[in-house]
Amino acid sequence: MDTRIDSRPSTGYLTDVAYIPGFYPNLAPVAIRYVAALNRVAPPRGDRFRYLELGCGLGRSLTTLAAACPAAEFVGVDINPEHTAIASREIAAGSLANARVITSGFGDLPADLGTFEYVALHGVFSWVAPEVREQILDVARRHLAPGGLLVVSYNSMPGWAHLQPIRGILRQYAALRTGDSLQRIRDALAYLVFIRDRQAKYFVDNPNASAYVDALLKQDIRYLAHEYLNEHWTSFYFAEVAGMFGGAGLTFAGSLPVHTNFWDLCVRPEFQELFRTTNDRLVTEAHKDFCANTAFRWDVYAKAPRLLTGLDDRLAVADDIHVRLSRPGATLPYQANLGVVTSTLQGALYDALVARLAGGSQSLSALLADPRPAGAARDDIARAIDAGVATGLFDLAAGALPVAPAHAPDRVALPCPFNRAVLASDALGGRPVALASTTTGTGHSIGDLDAAILLELVEGGPDGLADRVDRRLTSSGRSLQRDGKPVADSAERLRLVQESCTAFRATSLPQLVQLGVAVGG
Ligand SMILES: C[S@@+](CC[C@H](N)C(=O)[O-])C[C@H]1O[C@@H](n2cnc3c(N)ncnc32)[C@H](O)[C@@H]1O
Repeated sequence: MDTRIDSRPSTGYLTDVAYIPGFYPNLAPVAIRYVAALNRVAPPRGDRFRYLELGCGLGRSLTTLAAACPAAEFVGVDINPEHTAIASREIAAGSLANARVITSGFGDLPADLGTFEYVALHGVFSWVAPEVREQILDVARRHLAPGGLLVVSYNSMPGWAHLQPIRGILRQYAALRTGDSLQRIRDALAYLVFIRDRQAKYFVDNPNASAYVDALLKQDIRYLAHEYLNEHWTSFYFAEVAGMFGGAGLTFAGSLPVHTNFWDLCVRPEFQELFRTTNDRLVTEAHKDFCANTAFRWDVYAKAPRLLTGLDDRLAVADDIHVRLSRPGATLPYQANLGVVTSTLQGALYDALVARLAGGSQSLSALLADPRPAGAARDDIARAIDAGVATGLFDLAAGALPVAPAHAPDRVALPCPFNRAVLASDALGGRPVALASTTTGTGHSIGDLDAAILLELVEGGPDGLADRVDRRLTSSGRSLQRDGKPVADSAERLRLVQESCTAFRATSLPQLVQLGVAVGG
């Protein structure tokens, strides 16, 4: 057996290439709780929960959430010691006393691990051996607390059906090559482009697969190695996953992102009749996945859930979740493109809600209190708020947020050591940088150039900001792009940096102040 790809024959999971860091907002307790409550499942209450992430990789979701939820305890598990070493370093750099990682397979967890209100696994379930999936289900059985919630992501059918051969050919070609996994996946990609460009009949017959190759070429090569070179790789129908978790005593409690819980936001009107006549989730989720050709799912499962009896019951268990405007100054009509469906929000009720939220975040009960927005019925207001969250007009917060200031202060500081550490390590790193907000209970991503601007603003203040960012850019080797091409001229580049600094201070920085990520300093 080849030790580079299968150095752990019992799992078949690739270990010779470290994964990439990434923060996934769907793993945030505030999002998971909201989805459960939306689906009439009582979520765990309070901020002193325990959270277990299986296959935490480099741990960036775990650490960001630990920084955002300081009263909670976060435990990450990963079999790859290189991953857990990186995660441990980031935990130390961020002074996160409430987070730790364990180097372990899912089948060898410490007996005294205890139970957790949340268990999360992203990018794991489709990529591990069937016996490892059994271990995951066993962890859910043993370590998810009654009333607890589990979030699992996986490659789904039928969205993967026409793309499965791509995975097959990448892995088969890579197996013939020499070198480490990175070299093999590079060679396999080059082969894929070769046959695609010469119009191999598979690509002629599957034009979407042809376009998909271009999308692959834009991805980080380490991500591609982990996605395609593992020995095991499976895409599931919803019903298969629901059956597996059902066997572990868990019940489906909704999906992420939030709009996927609304069939009218997922499928076109001509396919919606089935949802009006059928309550069976196995049928409706399959229908939705076919009508939307879903290729990836994030599902939430509950253990021994208590079902909510109505709106007042929902308020009793989840009213600490606040709603806020996603962007200050949002105007109506608001249009959201959700893939298959485009949704427009407008009308007196939305006008009234947007006007209320312009004054800062509010709880659901505050928004339902008299005088009610536009004099609407409570159920209609709750539905409008949920639709606003689903379409991205509104966002969630784990607590009350002030109004965003019209102007950010000239000098800012970052109160959270984790955010300072992340900025220092990831500014200009070529990928978004997620900063933790203790007020929203989750992370918020900014571009890597904005991260450098924020870092320079914190370290050196506003004077000469653009020059300092430009120097940082030059020494990092990261190029600036205009119209898809790198900007070579240094005067032109400085002008672009100046524009970016002005835009960041006018738009993003006031929001970071509102989120409590940055404070006047
Ligand atoms: C694709 S990565 C996802 C990492 C992380 N969840 C993320 O989204 O960034 C899958 C992770 O699962 C870990 N893993 C795979 N099999 C495992 C096992 N049997 N026990 C523990 N961890 C495992 C891998 O080492 C890897 O870090």
